[in-house]
Amino acid sequence: MLSDQFQRRTTIFVIWLVLLGTAIFFIPALQSWMGLVRNAEGVLVAKEVVVNVDGQQVQQAAAWGRATISFLDTTFRVLRLLLWMGIVISVVRYLSYLIFGAALRKAGEQEISSLLRTVLTVGIYIVAFFIIFQTQFPKVELAPLFTGSAIIGIVVGLALQDTLGNLFAGIAIQADQSFQVGDVVQVGEQGMGTIESVSWRGVKIRTFQNKMLVISNSVIGKETLEIAPKENLNARIVRFNTIYTTSPARVIQIVREAVRQIDNVSPKRRPKVRIWNLGDNGIDWEIKYWTTNYRRHNDTDALIRQRVWYAFQREGIDFAYPTRTIYTAKQSEEEAVFVDTADEICERINSVSVFAPLSSEETKRISSACFVRVFAPEEPIIEAGQTDSSMFIVHKGRVSVQVKENGVSKAITTLKPGDFFGEMSLLTGQPRTADVIADAETTVIEISSIILKPLFESNPELARVIGEIITERREMLDAQRTQEQEMTESDTSGPVFKIKKFFGIE
Ligand code: CMP
Repeated sequence: MLSDQFQRRTTIFVIWLVLLGTAIFFIPALQSWMGLVRNAEGVLVAKEVVVNVDGQQVQQAAAWGRATISFLDTTFRVLRLLLWMGIVISVVRYLSYLIFGAALRKAGEQEISSLLRTVLTVGIYIVAFFIIFQTQFPKVELAPLFTGSAIIGIVVGLALQDTLGNLFAGIAIQADQSFQVGDVVQVGEQGMGTIESVSWRGVKIRTFQNKMLVISNSVIGKETLEIAPKENLNARIVRFNTIYTTSPARVIQIVREAVRQIDNVSPKRRPKVRIWNLGDNGIDWEIKYWTTNYRRHNDTDALIRQRVWYAFQREGIDFAYPTRTIYTAKQSEEEAVFVDTADEICERINSVSVFAPLSSEETKRISSACFVRVFAPEEPIIEAGQTDSSMFIVHKGRVSVQVKENGVSKAITTLKPGDFFGEMSLLTGQPRTADVIADAETTVIEISSIILKPLFESNPELARVIGEIITERREMLDAQRTQEQEMTESDTSGPVFKIKKFFGIE
């Protein structure tokens, strides 16, 4: 299927060609009608009066004087020069549309800049003009006009100094192909952004503040450029620090895990977490990660710092404060938002309905042995398929329980403060059935199986109540996963049986 635009351009091109060709074709006829003819040397002269045998005049002599004929001769030559140039321009424009406009666009080369196109077409026009001019005015020598005239040279040189400088620098940039549209580039001290276009005059760069930086080719040609090509795995460095008492091996493990699942951190290369300096204030670290979308590096750096903060908060790791500063500030209420009192935790555990069969002594035991952990918005708390031995109570914030359908995550429910999750794996020993992701900044209470095991032994009712909830949740999961077979809840495969078996309860 030919596009409308292609058809339109082809029609216009053909019409032009026919019109100009016809005009050239009819020039001799027009001359003849005016009583003029070209002699053997190609010069326009008046026709002779020709008389036939009967004495009748069969051709009309031109009624023009010498000077007028000479003027008409020049006019016709100029007219033919213009018409031929018209044909050349039409053909070049049409071919340029076909090659640069249609063919290369299809091949995904939109960024072929207008510079190459402009330079090529202007070159062809100049050559064509020389050739046509020489055919029409063979006696006029054009070359000495350009080579011989020092004054023209100086005037043109001065007037076009900058323009030509930019043009040739642009050609050099094109030939070099060191960057292309879509690459992120840092131009010396001038700024950083994404290349939007390269023209015969300069390069347009959209900065990360959404402003346009226009740098002329001759200037950019002299600058040192730092280029992050768009098809490249470009590396970034994000720095942080810890106090000297924190184990480096632990920091590496925690930070790697925190960075792993961040969007725009390429999974093709494992991020590096390494010590880059033993500083005055503490251990200085750097995370080196790779990204394909370098245009979003500021957001990705920020997200990495945020995830590191949350991971450190959960693991009780401190960033290093300047050692020369005496840190005496009293912790404000807002700062203490993650430090919950044992009473608050105890109260939260008591509010969970499934723990109702437990005595207050037993809930106190849980609250003193559990962990309070904080997660960033959108950070995974549980990943489907993992085998873990903890369950969680939502203390603050909210989480979303998600399952993957054909690789796409779908939320099946949201859990609020007082709800719990992770009980299925903890109590049955099977892999996690779903992803649980923090919807907002979320604080959870993590209870490990070591704490719960003695409680199940002393409270069989607890296993029964939780077993019922697990059954309900399984049913909901099954309803979501329509492609999976209905799970058969028989006596020997039911959750209560599995819980008892897992904990060795008769
Ligand atoms: P677990 O399988 O250990 O890890 C994923 C958790 O998601 C799972 O335990 C449940 O706690 C929770 N979950 C799964 N399905 C549902 C559901 N339908 N409603 C609420 N929570 C669920």
